[in-house]
Amino acid sequence: MALAKRPRGSDPRAAAARVLVQVRDKGRSLATALPAAQAELADARDAALVQELVYGTLRWYHRLDTFLGGLLRKPLKARDADLHCLLLIGLYQLDQLALPERVAVHETVQAVRTLDKDWARGLTNAVLRNFQRDRQQLGQAITGDEAAVYAHPRWLIERLQSDWPEHWQEILAANNMRPPFCLRINQQRMTRTEYLEVLAEQDIDASPIAETSQGVCLSKPLAVTRLPGFDAGNVSVQDGAAQLAAPLLQLQPGMRVLDACAAPGGKTAHMLELATQVEVTAIDIDAQRLDRIHENLGRLGLRAALLAGDAGRPADWWDGRSFDRILLDAPCSASGVIRRHPDIKMLRRPADIEVLVQRQAALLNALWPLLATGGMLLYCTCSVLAAENSRQIGDFLKQHKDASELPVMVACGQRCEHGRQILPGDNGMDGFYYACLTRTA
Ligand SMILES: C[S@@+](CC[C@H](N)C(=O)[O-])C[C@H]1O[C@@H](n2cnc3c(N)ncnc32)[C@H](O)[C@@H]1O
Repeated sequence: MALAKRPRGSDPRAAAARVLVQVRDKGRSLATALPAAQAELADARDAALVQELVYGTLRWYHRLDTFLGGLLRKPLKARDADLHCLLLIGLYQLDQLALPERVAVHETVQAVRTLDKDWARGLTNAVLRNFQRDRQQLGQAITGDEAAVYAHPRWLIERLQSDWPEHWQEILAANNMRPPFCLRINQQRMTRTEYLEVLAEQDIDASPIAETSQGVCLSKPLAVTRLPGFDAGNVSVQDGAAQLAAPLLQLQPGMRVLDACAAPGGKTAHMLELATQVEVTAIDIDAQRLDRIHENLGRLGLRAALLAGDAGRPADWWDGRSFDRILLDAPCSASGVIRRHPDIKMLRRPADIEVLVQRQAALLNALWPLLATGGMLLYCTCSVLAAENSRQIGDFLKQHKDASELPVMVACGQRCEHGRQILPGDNGMDGFYYACLTRTA
């Protein structure tokens, strides 16, 4: 039977292949590449399928690409990167999804036409059928290849083995899981118990996140437009680990607080939900992302002074009055949130880590003089790498005799030489690191 060719942009598998090329070969993030591709699809189910395919294929990329290497007689040419990515998408469906395999193969072969590569229909069909036939041998053949077994880049596996000799396998496994969908209830509007009742009335299955006072986890993700009370500001989307930051600051009425890397404002909003009578200044270097804080605070009915600026150059924006609290949620490798952003596996390079470490150190050094004596600076990252976390704080403490460490009052995670690390999957949470510093003079 001759297959009708779908117009460019309207085939979800072909659209997903193009998104993957942008992430893998052009270094674009999923957050920028995916929405543009989804906007071209008329059907919301197709848009959801593209999302499933790109997230899943990136999550398992290193495994699938090794399989593909064993299935192709010779590598594809560079100009066929879209076909290469489509083949990975085909393998992802067969290896990881509970789709009927006949449909997965048929639709992937069909998508080849949308890529204008009719010549590759036979090849695509053969690769996928051979995978179905030989999957057991292919699975056995990768057992000595850690990148393929754990579906992570080799350099990251090696760093995790060195930083977390007893936990690296759990971290890698957690990174490959689908993340939970978590909410923070705005305690200015209602209690968590009341919101759980609202969810139950609407047959939305949810449970409290025990380590937090406002956190709730839904058993299935839901579009925010379908979340009861979202537009009214009763609730925000935020992982449980990120919800630990604001309570650690122990805010009191009248305090001056600096949120130094604030966008999109999840933690800024949480602080203001916990303590309305605090004066919060929220800074971000990215003016567009600062708009997101504005939107989020507006929806939640909260107020802060917003500044677009470089937190590392206080001379440009600081009025000279010290802060009682500083939150430095520093730019980092995001190696603790790979389960939410599997594109990090492709985008992050080993050399990025040292650059980030230098940038974090520069931010710490620049912000420290802004803290009042007796005040607290909370340093956090969504990284699991010691260089960005415990070692970073150890180096800072060596260089600042007026700084001392306070205990991180969090019941979960691992105590480090300095600070506390929540590993991805610990109590279901994202990977996060926290260190509390106080200024003694
Ligand atoms: C981890 S995100 C912050 C997340 C935010 N705290 C929240 O909870 O929603 C890091 C942020 O730091 C910002 N950033 C990076 N370098 C900065 C700098 N030198 N000064 C101010 N902001 C910076 C980035 O634009 C990014 O929005």
